[in-house]
Amino acid sequence: MTNSLIPVITIDGPAGSGKGTIARQLAAILNYNYLDSGALYRILSLLSQQQGIAVDDLQGLVALCEEMDVRFGFDAQSSSNSGSIDELQTNKQPENVSVFLNDNEVASDLRTEECAGRASQLAALQEVRAALLEKQRSFRQSPGLVAEGRDMGTVVFPDAERKIYLTASPHERALRRQKQLKKQGISASLGTLLKEIETRDSRDQNRAVSPLRPAADALLVDSTNLSIEQAVNRIAEIVRGGH
Ligand code: DC
Repeated sequence: MTNSLIPVITIDGPAGSGKGTIARQLAAILNYNYLDSGALYRILSLLSQQQGIAVDDLQGLVALCEEMDVRFGFDAQSSSNSGSIDELQTNKQPENVSVFLNDNEVASDLRTEECAGRASQLAALQEVRAALLEKQRSFRQSPGLVAEGRDMGTVVFPDAERKIYLTASPHERALRRQKQLKKQGISASLGTLLKEIETRDSRDQNRAVSPLRPAADALLVDSTNLSIEQAVNRIAEIVRGGH
């Protein structure tokens, strides 16, 4: 199969819209490959910080992009399925996606707000985005790909078969983030989280290169008043071909 014939489903949207959970469920059930493109920006953030490469050292950042070897792995729970979209059910919850950087598992290192904030700065750089473009496209492997991020449908996979743009109000997204952090034993004030989310949104939406926006042919889903289960069902419906 030539690369362009391999189906891609894109799920774009801001942080906290639920796109990560939904993309992972879809990928696991379809037995598709999975790309968390935000993780690539976060890995670059982590690596550049560890190696003392400044956010304005474009050459150093591009070299890091070229070096990094990234893989995603689901836990065993999600590996047994028939690959049928009709079987998309909400009881499949591959929450534990491993992120391997050069064979080391780094998922938990990528989740900090500090890592995310720096990733957002790096994501505004044209050179960085260009250096990560082919890497992202290389995840398009048989039998298919579910790709989540900010510009999957607009820039990276403009020919994707189905494009979803998932949103939720900033307040709801801050609440979700607070709950997520609480589960990890971290307490954070809602006001601080809301401010962080709004700053990041504004940077992602207003940057000159690949700003966060829905593709013209994306279907919009607002998850503010939907449970994860309801959002997954809504998106499953769209992926199956209904609107
Ligand atoms: O989805 P996330 O929070 O892990 O993304 C981390 C940062 O990377 C965030 O600021 C948005 C940015 N990003 C991007 O610009 N383009 C993507 N395709 C994915 C993420």
